[in-house]
Amino acid sequence: MLRTVLLRAAGNERIKDAALAVPLTRAVVERFIAGETAEDALAAARRLTDDGLLVTVDHLGEHTRERAAAERVTVAYLELLQAVRTAGLGPQVEVSVKLSALGQLLPGDGESVAVEQARLICAAARNAGTTVTVDMEDHTTTASTLAVVEELRQDFPQTGAVLQANLRRTEADCERLAHSGSRVRLCKGAYASPEEVAYRPGAEVDLSYVRCLRVLMEGLGYPMVATHDPRLVAIAQDLANRNHREPGSWELQMLHGIRPEEQRRLVAAGHQVRVYLPYGTDWYGYMVRRMAEKPANLALFLRGLTSR
Ligand code: FDA
Repeated sequence: MLRTVLLRAAGNERIKDAALAVPLTRAVVERFIAGETAEDALAAARRLTDDGLLVTVDHLGEHTRERAAAERVTVAYLELLQAVRTAGLGPQVEVSVKLSALGQLLPGDGESVAVEQARLICAAARNAGTTVTVDMEDHTTTASTLAVVEELRQDFPQTGAVLQANLRRTEADCERLAHSGSRVRLCKGAYASPEEVAYRPGAEVDLSYVRCLRVLMEGLGYPMVATHDPRLVAIAQDLANRNHREPGSWELQMLHGIRPEEQRRLVAAGHQVRVYLPYGTDWYGYMVRRMAEKPANLALFLRGLTSR
């Protein structure tokens, strides 16, 4: 119930505008977000790579309402990737991109605006010796997002896709994308979706995750197992062993600030672990989704707001 209310609030522009008027609170910054600037993100990324973790950096923001704003998002990524290049953090630090931030939902030619902007980011990533993974947003954008990833992959074959185990279509998408050279991040899915297209949160989603994971691990691609769920992490390890996967042929992924000790334990045990590291000022949608996943975060967030 609270999850549904929170996920509805994530898409509410009026609540968002009110929330964004509040400066980022220290508690929230320290727990989930690297800070507001690319320098903050780079410094946090360096601390993580020093600990043996890999990183994917996300410039916060989504649902861009005008082309100029989409172009500003691209510029932010280009500056970030230039900094990655200068720092020589290349393959360890990649970026995650939301197509809705790049104009995907603009009326008319939104999808082609997003492709154009994403191509600039992919080219900058290649120059920095690294890759781009295209985040997946709500279910109404799945087909468009996968079509854009396919188009980007023609020139930038390492571009990663994200699939959400809560969607009924995803097992078939996994079959289609489990080919050589394909990078696929599998997550449970952070958006509310109707029952016609999605499984109910909980056991149904977890079972779907395992079916999808099996397809990806048996396939020829590079599975990116994005979950903090200890049972699913154990199943991923087991499936990787059964399919004789070498350590560098798949990776675990977790969000910045969630189970950090486990991230380091897994690295110490010889796994590749990538941390999703968001930065920027447009934190509203991201934070609300984190609260929907674990309502205790709502208390942390509210305490942060009131302790200033
Ligand atoms: P689950 O929610 O069952 O959590 C398992 C355990 O992890 C919990 O019991 C708790 O201990 C801990 N935990 C989980 N979430 C927490 C939180 N917010 N705060 C504190 N503890 C928490 N989604 C999407 O729709 N599109 C996308 O592109 C991405 N991208 C993405 C990248 C990466 C690297 C990750 C790890 C996740 C995503 N997600 C995502 C989010 C994903 O869909 C999902 O909502 C969250 O990962 C939570 O699901 P878990 O698999 O962790 O399981």
